[in-house]
Amino acid sequence: MHREAVVTPADLIWPLFVTEGEGVEEPVAALPGVSRWSVDGIAARAREAVALGIPCLALFPNTQAERRSADGREALSPDNLMCRAIRAIKQACGDDIGVLTDVALDPYTSHGQDGLIDEAGYVLNDATVDMLVGQALNQAAAGADIIAPSDMMDGRIAAIRTALEDAGHANVQIMSYAAKYASAFYGPFRHAVGSSGVLKGDKKTYQMDPANGEEALREVAMDLAEGADTVMVKPGLPYLDIARRVKERFEVPVFAYQVSGEYAMIEAAVAAGAADRDAMVLETLTAFKRAGCSGVLTYHAAHAARLLGA
Ligand code: PBG
Repeated sequence: MHREAVVTPADLIWPLFVTEGEGVEEPVAALPGVSRWSVDGIAARAREAVALGIPCLALFPNTQAERRSADGREALSPDNLMCRAIRAIKQACGDDIGVLTDVALDPYTSHGQDGLIDEAGYVLNDATVDMLVGQALNQAAAGADIIAPSDMMDGRIAAIRTALEDAGHANVQIMSYAAKYASAFYGPFRHAVGSSGVLKGDKKTYQMDPANGEEALREVAMDLAEGADTVMVKPGLPYLDIARRVKERFEVPVFAYQVSGEYAMIEAAVAAGAADRDAMVLETLTAFKRAGCSGVLTYHAAHAARLLGA
């Protein structure tokens, strides 16, 4: 009766990995219990999500090596994996489910960075923003409901918002990965999208220093001023203080991404017989709500929705 924070399936966004083929399910070794699905399987997951009361899916493509390039131009192709998956979901479920699409070049670049690089490998902010705008427009044209830039380039929210308006996509939302840290917790994700083998170096010139909290507030302020509808803090549990500060300062919807390394830690503890999966899943999700988050991106979304008795 006195409980302050409540988790429901409506709080969950389910990240899914897309792969080529038909009838394909490829388990991701680094994420036990998570698979890459071909487009038909993605449509089936969308139907499952609707039945479970999950309101939104987040899509990430595993682009074949031969379609990756230095400039990541596959991101602009209207028939890339991401666009085919969006169309399949919309065909299967229409507006019963939202589709959130990641904007960043790392699933498409031969070097695994989120943007274009110079000869020294330094990621070029402004040239990258032009590509990201094209990528976002491509996703919106395929039917994406929410554009989620995860690249951390400066100025991309304003550029994407303006381009969406000009192209007639006024109702497409932007959820910006506003405070995204250069984190060790993304390792399993990079395996899942196939960028870990090719990535040289790190992403510290554009993702944030885990030591900085005030900087997160400045990043969020910029993205909101530029037109973000919603902001995200990422990773999740190690950065609950940031989610809380953002919520208190800006009073906007804040989402947290319980990232791949966090999922893998829970699964490793379960595999070691050290802890109870269901209890940890529900406790961590409750902690996000208590911290002030509107919702959580989690690979445990379908499992959690079942536990919550949808
Ligand atoms: C790509 C992107 C990453 C994640 C989401 N979008 C990885 C990265 O920035 O290297 C991580 C998600 C996860 O670890 O679950 N820009």
